[in-house]
This record gives sequence, structure tokens and C-alpha cells, in this order.
Amino acid sequence: MELYGKNIGVALTGSFCTFEKTFKVLEDLVQAGANLYPILSDSSQKISSRFGTPDLYLERIRTITGREPILSIETAEPIGPSSYLDILAIVPCTGNTAAKLASGITDSPVLMAAKAHLRVNKPLVIAISTNDGLGMNLKNIGTLFNSKNIYFVPFGQDNWEKKPNSLVAHMELLRPALELALEHRQYQPVLISY
Ligand SMILES: Cc1cc2nc3c(=O)[nH]c(=O)nc-3n(C[C@H](O)[C@H](O)[C@H](O)COP(=O)(O)O)c2cc1C
Repeated sequence: MELYGKNIGVALTGSFCTFEKTFKVLEDLVQAGANLYPILSDSSQKISSRFGTPDLYLERIRTITGREPILSIETAEPIGPSSYLDILAIVPCTGNTAAKLASGITDSPVLMAAKAHLRVNKPLVIAISTNDGLGMNLKNIGTLFNSKNIYFVPFGQDNWEKKPNSLVAHMELLRPALELALEHRQYQPVLISY
């Protein structure tokens, strides 16, 4: 299904090394005519690192989406009752957020958005990015993969020699993964090597 005119929630969590790639694919979604509604986890609003600062991220996200990001649990909650998103993407999705989502924990704006959105039976797309994807988080990825209305951006081992448990989504496949998830279909193949 085309993304033109679709309302897409884009939820960023604290995998800061993938933010730059994420911003580029968000720009592509805007080019495709999608309306983006940004949401940030608490960590991505607070943590400064060698990859950038929250102020810079917020400015960039405002510029790309033309919207004020959702930054709190209370402003994410209406996503359920108002049902205004056609689809929600957690991009990038940390191991932390994946583990909490798989366990039914709702303690950040992104997790609130996911819970509210799933409540109304709409598709949720996950772009995983975590060093423990083949470690502690493998079971959570499995749980999410097997959950109703949850789809994945294809992912692979980004650096098996130095980070043998690391899994990172192919961000450039976000758009086709969203197009299929809107039809409740999973982009295949899911596992793609780097
Ligand atoms: C510089 C830096 C880079 C990080 N990169 C990742 C990452 O790629 N994947 C991940 O799962 N966690 C990463 N983390 C850890 C998360 O930011 C941390 O687990 C945080 O609690 C995530 O919260 P959130 O899921 O609510 O955004 C990184 C932390 C820092 C400081």
C-alpha cells in the first residue's frame, strides 16, 4: 500500500549510532507524501553522546517532520482512543524497548504509543538495533515476531566479528516494510546479511 497521505508514527529510541541513517529514511518517507508524527523515548530526549545531543536531534526531527515531537506518556496515550495513526514504526528500536514491549511494560512515550496503537489493531513495525540481539534479547525478538500486528524491518548481523550478538535493521528497507505492513504482511526475507 502506498505511503502517500498515510499518518505514520515514527518512534525513536536510544540507539544513537543509527540516528543519522534513520533521519535519512524519514526524509524519504516525507518525500513519499507521508505525514510523520515523531515520538521520542526518554533516553533519546536526555542522553548526549559522541553521536549528538538531544537538542540537535529534536531540531532535526522537527525540521524533517514539521511537527512537535511527542515527548511524554500522557501525550502519547491519545494515539489509542483517537486512533489517528495508520501505522507506527519504532525506528530504531533498542534492546531495552524491545524487551519491555515483549514484557508488556509501558514506561516511556514510545512504549505508551506502541501499546495505545496495538490496542486499536493497527500495524507496528520494528527496526531493531541492539548489540544483544542474538544474546539476551533473542527471546524478546522472537516474542515480538510472533505477536499479532507486529512486523520487522529486515535485519542482520552488522559486525559479527567484533559484535557477534549484534543485530541491526536495514533502515533503507523501512519504506517497503511499512508498505507491506499496512496490508498486514511481513516483508521477506526477514534475515538479510550485511
Ligand atoms: C552512545 C550510546 C549508544 C547506544 N546504542 C545503543 C544501541 O545501538 N542499541 C541499544 O539497544 N542500546 C543502545 N544504547 C543503550 C540505550 O540507549 C539504553 O539501553 C537506554 O536505556 C534505551 O532506552 P530507550 O529504549 O527507552 O530509548 C546506547 C547508549 C549510548 C549511550
